[in-house]
Amino acid sequence: MDGMTKLGRETIADAGNGLIDQAGVAEAIALNPDREEVWIEVIQKMEQVYSDLVRYQVELEEKNAALEDAHQFIASVLTSMTDVLLVCDADGRLQRVNFAAEKLIGEREAVMMDRDIASLFSADSVTTVQSFLEQIRSDRVIVDQEVSLLTKEGAPAPLAVNCTARYDHGGRLVGMVLIGRPVGELRRAYEQLDRAHRDLSQAQQHLVFSEKMAALGQLVAGVAHELNNPISFVFGNMHALKRYGEHLTAYLTAMDEGASPERLGELRQTHRIDRILKDIGPLVDGTLEGAERVSEIVQDLRRFSSSQEEPLERFDLTRVVKTATRWVTKSAKSKLRIDFHVPEDLEALGRKGAVHQIVVNLVQNAVDVTADLKDPCIQIACGSDKGDAWVRVQDNGPGIAAENLGKVFDPFFTTKRLGEGTGLGLYVSYGLAEELGGRLSCRNDPERGGAEFTLQLPRGEDHDG
Ligand SMILES: Nc1ncnc2c1ncn2[C@@H]1O[C@H](COP(=O)(O)OP(=O)(O)O)[C@@H](O)[C@H]1O
Ligand SMILES: [Mg+2]
Repeated sequence: MDGMTKLGRETIADAGNGLIDQAGVAEAIALNPDREEVWIEVIQKMEQVYSDLVRYQVELEEKNAALEDAHQFIASVLTSMTDVLLVCDADGRLQRVNFAAEKLIGEREAVMMDRDIASLFSADSVTTVQSFLEQIRSDRVIVDQEVSLLTKEGAPAPLAVNCTARYDHGGRLVGMVLIGRPVGELRRAYEQLDRAHRDLSQAQQHLVFSEKMAALGQLVAGVAHELNNPISFVFGNMHALKRYGEHLTAYLTAMDEGASPERLGELRQTHRIDRILKDIGPLVDGTLEGAERVSEIVQDLRRFSSSQEEPLERFDLTRVVKTATRWVTKSAKSKLRIDFHVPEDLEALGRKGAVHQIVVNLVQNAVDVTADLKDPCIQIACGSDKGDAWVRVQDNGPGIAAENLGKVFDPFFTTKRLGEGTGLGLYVSYGLAEELGGRLSCRNDPERGGAEFTLQLPRGEDHDG
């Protein structure tokens, strides 16, 4: 191409003149030295040849300019492509590389010419790239395959590549065109998003936990009260057993010392040995029961304060509701009336600790909102409905203002004074209920006007009713 553009008009004209001079004119003069027509003919021919030559040259120049435009157009398109373009022949030797590829690889096109296309890729991509030509030969489509280009900077650059076959005029396969979209940016963005998401869910877990700890702080008095009961009767029973032991020892010592049957009968009376023997069984049973109760409360406490997830299991909802309510109400300052409408036992499926936490939140809110009333009253009901078990907590407080009904489950929404409410209790409870496959909803009781919160939980597969 360069050779052609250098070929000027004069060169062609000179070459033409030389040709006519030497061949045409010399020959004509030699053959017909005297004839004028011959000269005229020769000159006409010369002129015609000359003008033909000039015409060819103009045409050639026009074609040349058009070719150059096309060449420049293609080059500019290739340069502006942000995707990587690699063109190779049927043996995989590189024939063309665009600017994006040069930039990513860190080498000039001229240096890469004729190199094996696979050699531009990282070790784990080489076989994949080598298989591309094979696949193209058997008319397979290569779309969005992930391979990594080697780069001068070191870290391989991941690409999503599409490959197509290149044919000549005769329809013969002459090579392959590979277009690759750098996915590094995309992946980095995805990783950032993923990290942010993980941080967020961790923050959420912290939130759930700290809300739980805050609730626990309020509950301490109630739990202590709860523990006090069984511990005090374990103490009482132990004192009684100690006294019984003393009586029995006295009686047995007299026996060992060979006291008379009359004396023994007397002692049996004064030490009330028969009553003691009858009492010992129930006393031990009662003590054991008290110790078990203590251990249950400690377990509840541990479950409540644990940050670890418990397994999903079927449990007695009535018991959890009663325990949670007691924890709150025993630590309440106001004199409350609690109406329980709960069945003996009611099975639900869930995590006891989470359900306990939800009920604690609901009852605590009801206690807070009725604290200043003359006759505070909370109604707690449980039941089942088709596949669901439900718990309802109602109070005779002022209810939730209409404009706040849609906000109470929002994080940090609180109408309590600074330091008295976090605005997280219902938000956390709502999330916990959803996680258990249940639902938490609220409304104002149309009759009494107080707030009414309902927690629905699945009952598990084989419930009866
Ligand atoms: N039983 C209720 N009666 C009236 N309003 C309630 C009741 N329970 C919750 N609310 C409203 O919902 C808000 C958010 O409750 P919650 O998420 O438990 O946060 P907090 O108790 O820390 O304020 C409360 O501040 C209150 O305005
Ligand atoms: Mg609350």
